[in-house]
Amino acid sequence: MNPETLKGRSLVHWKDWTPEEIRYLLELSHSVKKSSRNREVHQRFVGKTLALIFEKRSTRTRCAFETAFGEEGGHPVFLSTADIQLGAKESIEDTARVLGRMFSAVEFRGFSQDTVEILARESGVPVYNGLTDSYHPTQVLADIMTLEENFGKTAGKRLCFVGDGRNNVVRSLVVLCSKLGVNLTVVSPRELFTDPVLLEEAKVWASASGAVIEVTSDLGAVKGADAVYTDVWVSMGEENYSDERRRLLFPYQVNGSLMDRTENPKAVFLHCLPAVKGQEVSLEVIEGPASRVWDQAENRKHTIKAIMLATL
Ligand code: CP
Ligand code: NVA
Repeated sequence: MNPETLKGRSLVHWKDWTPEEIRYLLELSHSVKKSSRNREVHQRFVGKTLALIFEKRSTRTRCAFETAFGEEGGHPVFLSTADIQLGAKESIEDTARVLGRMFSAVEFRGFSQDTVEILARESGVPVYNGLTDSYHPTQVLADIMTLEENFGKTAGKRLCFVGDGRNNVVRSLVVLCSKLGVNLTVVSPRELFTDPVLLEEAKVWASASGAVIEVTSDLGAVKGADAVYTDVWVSMGEENYSDERRRLLFPYQVNGSLMDRTENPKAVFLHCLPAVKGQEVSLEVIEGPASRVWDQAENRKHTIKAIMLATL
C-alpha cells in the first residue's frame, strides 16, 4: 500500500477504505501514541487550517481534533451551527465550496450522513465524519486500537456489542470489524436489530477477512467474548424515544453478572462515552478492572491525528 494514495482522502465511513489502508492508519496511530508518550514535538500541520463543524455536542471528538491539529502547528476553527450559515441561509453545497477555498480540511459532526457526504464531494478537501446519525468512523478506529493494545492482533478476537444495535457506533463496528477480520456479535432486542441491508453489504468484506458478524437477542451469546462494548441507550437526536429504549434495553445492561457470562476472566469492557452510569453499564463494570474506557478516550486523539497525517 502506497501511503501517498491516501493524500486528499475523506473519511465519511469505512466502506471505501481497504483493509490495508485501515491497517496503515492503525500502525500510524500506535506510532503517534508512542511519540506522544516520548514527549516528541512535531509541527506537521504548520500553515494548515481545519474547520470543525458541530451540529451536536461533543467532548472527546472536538477536543481530539482540536488538540491533535493545534499541537502540530495547524489552526483549527470551531464552528457550531449557531455561528455559521450552513443549512440556515446557505445550502450545504455552497458552504462546502466556500470552506474548501479557505481550509485544508473539514470535520463535520451532525445529524444527516448526506451532509458529510455532500461536504466531502463538493469541498475539494479531505472531510472527516465526527459522527452522524448513521456512522461514527473515527470512534471505531480508536476502539480497534484499544483492543490491539490489550490483545496484540485483533483478527479472530470476538467483540460483543450489547445494547442499541441500530446506532451509529454499531454500524461503524460492522463495517470495520468485517474488513479487519474481527468477529462481532451484536446483542440487542429484536426491535433494535442492526440494519439488515448493512449486514448484507458487510458479508462481502467478512468473507474476504474471515470475520463472523452476527446479530442476536440472546444475552448468552456473550459467552467466550474477548471484549464487551456498550453505548448509550438513547443517542443524540433520539430523545423522544427515551421511555421506549429504557423499557426495551433494561435487560441488556452490562453489569457484573453479564461480564461473568463471558466466562472469560480476561474479557475487557469498552464504551465510546459519554456513559449513563447505572443505565447501559453498572458502576462496578465501568469503574472496575476490566474497563478500558479511558484508554479508548485517549486513543481518539492518536487515531484522529493519524487520520489527518495520512490524508493531509
Ligand atoms: N465518543 C465520543 O464521540 O464522544 P463525544 O461525544 O464527547 O465527542
Ligand atoms: N451513539 C451515541 C454516540 C455518542 C458518542 C450518540 O450518537 O449519541
